[in-house]
Amino acid sequence: MNIRADIPSSSPTLPPELRAWLGKERHLLIDGKWVPARSGKTFEVTDPATGEVIAKVAEGDKADVDLAVKAARRAFESGPWSKMSPSARGRLLHKIGDLILEHADELAALEAIDNGKPKNVAKAADVTLSADMFHYMSGWATKIEGKSIPISALAAPGSDFFSVTRPEPIGVVGQIIPWNFPLLMAAWKLAPALTTGCTVVLKIAEETPLSALRLGELLLEAGLPDGVVNIIAGFGETAGAALAGHPDVNKVAFTGSTEVGKLIVKAASHDLKRVSLELGGKSPNIILPDADLSLAIPGANAAIFFNHGQCCNAGSRLFVHRSIFDKVVDGIAAEASKIKLGHGLSEGTEMGPLVSSVQYERVNGYIAAGRDEGAKEIVCGGDVPNGKGYFVAPRILTDVNPSMKVVREEIFGPVLVATPFDEIDDALIAEANNSVYGLAAGVWGKDTGRAQQVAHKLRAGTVWVNCYHVFDAALPFGGYKQSGWGREMGQAVLSNYLETKAITTRLGSN
Ligand code: NAI
Ligand code: MG
Repeated sequence: MNIRADIPSSSPTLPPELRAWLGKERHLLIDGKWVPARSGKTFEVTDPATGEVIAKVAEGDKADVDLAVKAARRAFESGPWSKMSPSARGRLLHKIGDLILEHADELAALEAIDNGKPKNVAKAADVTLSADMFHYMSGWATKIEGKSIPISALAAPGSDFFSVTRPEPIGVVGQIIPWNFPLLMAAWKLAPALTTGCTVVLKIAEETPLSALRLGELLLEAGLPDGVVNIIAGFGETAGAALAGHPDVNKVAFTGSTEVGKLIVKAASHDLKRVSLELGGKSPNIILPDADLSLAIPGANAAIFFNHGQCCNAGSRLFVHRSIFDKVVDGIAAEASKIKLGHGLSEGTEMGPLVSSVQYERVNGYIAAGRDEGAKEIVCGGDVPNGKGYFVAPRILTDVNPSMKVVREEIFGPVLVATPFDEIDDALIAEANNSVYGLAAGVWGKDTGRAQQVAHKLRAGTVWVNCYHVFDAALPFGGYKQSGWGREMGQAVLSNYLETKAITTRLGSN
């Protein structure tokens, strides 16, 4: 096996510290220590822009998950975490946010070589939002409050009842995350679990383990006690399944495909674990006839092509009023043709490769299916770098109908399907809502009142009006229908990690 301490010759160079870090076998974080997998197994991590191996990572499975859960249980029940004051917990979370910012450059470089996304994008989006999530959540540690509730139950004469609610951490949480935003998904999951006082076993994606493993080092540097966060690199069918079905895990929080989301629910159903899910999408993006096209065209372009279309909330089904349909499609094609594809570390790269050969085959399979079903394909640019990388040029498919696979299914690549509409009526809303998913949507129009009316009728957890991809740690994010259960971020996410206890006390001696 050819494990390289240096970045492959076909890739731009990495800073020497990172090169050295990648040269060492990366281990699992269990009970505050970096340890190899019990089985001794490792797996290779590749740079999707070159197909070359860049690191070797311990491959955790059931035995490692068992140890990690044990450590998390001890940290929750009797370790320092259970005794730490909310204010100390908040300060620690804030420090983690600061450390992420201090290491922004390095974390962004890891995302670039592991996931393929451009480093500058990873720094501006993934890393910044990850730090924001810890900073925002650090404030909640001291604000998780119960209520005193007047009740009508009859007490004996001369006595009274006093009732309060007490939110309590749910316990040991198993978290499973995907590869499209490796660091950010870890932050979205860890920060709220920690602020509520839970302990965690985090199973990171096999395609992209590097930035979350580096984050694990920063957690220890911040002073997180042993066992509070355990990080398992490994595969879904082994490590992921062991975590989802583990009898001593109180709750599973998952982000990934709807298909695996259903498996998680099944695994968790044996002992009725709490489950929250952030799953797929096929989000409608609607351009009304009065839209400001100088905003809507670049907006629709970014809605689908940001992160190479590998976003659960990608605006992948475009609906445009017939009067402006050709102008909008031509405009998006022109914008998309300017996107510079390349290695994530190369100067000027705006779009990297897809994350893996599996996703490359999958997305190309959808493009072929679209062609077979009679869609008209516009290839935008097509200036794909030579070599082994998993690059796919942006595509727009027109002449599509609602029964086509490319219109119904999540492609998770740079492929937009575009359909004209004639009226802003119930038929348009019904078509926009005609999906098993309900994660996000966009509406573009100068008459914001009318755009709001459309927004109210869309069955989606997030609707952006005259903007897209606006994320904030303070805003709840999650899906209707088969896009998931529960919400990430904002105050709303806290309920994913809390149980509510009602305590009623009889006052008085009679
Ligand atoms: P996936 O859903 O299989 O993987 C996500 C995570 O779940 C990974 O950590 C994986 O190891 C784990 N996992 C897989 N099987 C598991 C099991 N049986 N039990 C427990 N954990 C398991 O997603 P995949 O295969 O990487 O991508 C396939 C498609 O899923 C994509 O093309 C895309 O459509 C969708 N997807 C959606 C994401 C989202 O953010 N909503 C993220 C990633 C993928
Ligand atoms: Mg899978």
